[in-house]
Amino acid sequence: MKTKLCVLFGGKSVEHEISVISALQAMENLDAEKYDIIPVYISKSGDMYTGDILREAAAYKDLKALCKKSVRVTFVSDGGKVLLCRFPAKRFGSSVIAEIDVAFPIVHGTNVEDGALQGYLKTLGVPFVGCDVLSSAVGMDKYVMKAMLRDGGFPVLDCLRFNKYRSRIDSCVSETEEKIGYPVIVKPVDLGSSVGITVAHDSESLKSALKTAFSYAENVLCERAVTELREINCSVVGDSEKAEASECEEPFMHDEILSYEDKYMGGSKGCAKSAGAKTSGAGAKSASGGMASLARKVPADLDAKMRERIRKMACDAFVHLGCSGVSRIDFMIDKATGELYINEFNTIPGSLAFYLWQPVGVSYGELLDRLISLALKRARRESDIIYSFDTNIFAMGAPASTGTKGAKGAKR
Ligand SMILES: Nc1ncnc2c1ncn2[C@@H]1O[C@H](COP(=O)(O)OP(=O)(O)O)[C@@H](O)[C@H]1O
Ligand SMILES: [Mg+2]
Repeated sequence: MKTKLCVLFGGKSVEHEISVISALQAMENLDAEKYDIIPVYISKSGDMYTGDILREAAAYKDLKALCKKSVRVTFVSDGGKVLLCRFPAKRFGSSVIAEIDVAFPIVHGTNVEDGALQGYLKTLGVPFVGCDVLSSAVGMDKYVMKAMLRDGGFPVLDCLRFNKYRSRIDSCVSETEEKIGYPVIVKPVDLGSSVGITVAHDSESLKSALKTAFSYAENVLCERAVTELREINCSVVGDSEKAEASECEEPFMHDEILSYEDKYMGGSKGCAKSAGAKTSGAGAKSASGGMASLARKVPADLDAKMRERIRKMACDAFVHLGCSGVSRIDFMIDKATGELYINEFNTIPGSLAFYLWQPVGVSYGELLDRLISLALKRARRESDIIYSFDTNIFAMGAPASTGTKGAKGAKR
């Protein structure tokens, strides 16, 4: 029997479109002999839709029309089963569209990649691909992630965190000038795709960088901008028991930082892809480039020692943060000092980082199979954990009232 696989994508995130591309690519590469693929598109307002039209890239040009042509749905947990149902329910006949075996969130950014969707799926009780609630949340928050990595002895750049409602812009500027200096890079803590990130070289540009970052997130971080930067990315697949590293890539940027345009539009500012860079979409059916269209060099030009250091550190950090599924860990090398830092984690990387697995002999289809097996493995493990007691204290002569009335001052 085929596995009923629900691919969830979209969501209320600035990376909505990138998620659509990543999901379309994955659906094209899933083995149709093994899986019944059920697409579930989460609109920018959070409504959910299903239908075959959701697998056509061209349909996303008009999102309103797309939603009209699809079927609005909701999930229902029903006595141990998780059902995808028509919403609103039909007046006559069954509204059940499918019973879901595994959910596959292919989403990027706030409200979806950050543990929120994972928490929803966990509450429903459906096995799902990728990081659990905590590691998704940790991986999304650049500040918390750094704190945990530092605690584990991994090299990260020091940073300052500011809250939009607690700190005045002027005091953010003076503290940054005192503790970090220029150039400094300002980032919303919980976004991706370089959205809201700016390098500042003086107090005026720092003020405006902070305002930009605060328009995307309540918390922002400031850290030293590495001027002689080499970026190296490496993907990891696995779980706490076994983690395996992919090939390393070196992405190329056209600006001061690797921008949204560099990542998804091949550098929109008219630059040709750098010499020697491979786009490495070959071998996988590709709906449209997404992260796979970035100009990059795979394998990255690294000596064997550095390559192994990065791949091992990527696996160790993945396990340290409690990740599972596929992540992409982004490193920075400061060419001026030779220092290596972990920059960030992507717990659901663009294009699921399939292009980093092909060079080590793992096809996209195989990668997807592995991820689904890992989701089922976690569900089996969780079924060994005790989540409830058979006893019911209400049936054991517990007081009929909860005793809160008149017990306001009770201490615990
Ligand atoms: N400390 C830094 N110094 C120099 N450039 C940086 C630094 N941190 C990030 N960048 C640049 O900004 C890009 C985006 O930053 P990153 O932290 O990876 O956020 P995102 O989650 O949006 O990808 C990086 O790919 C890199 O080009
Ligand atoms: Mg990044």
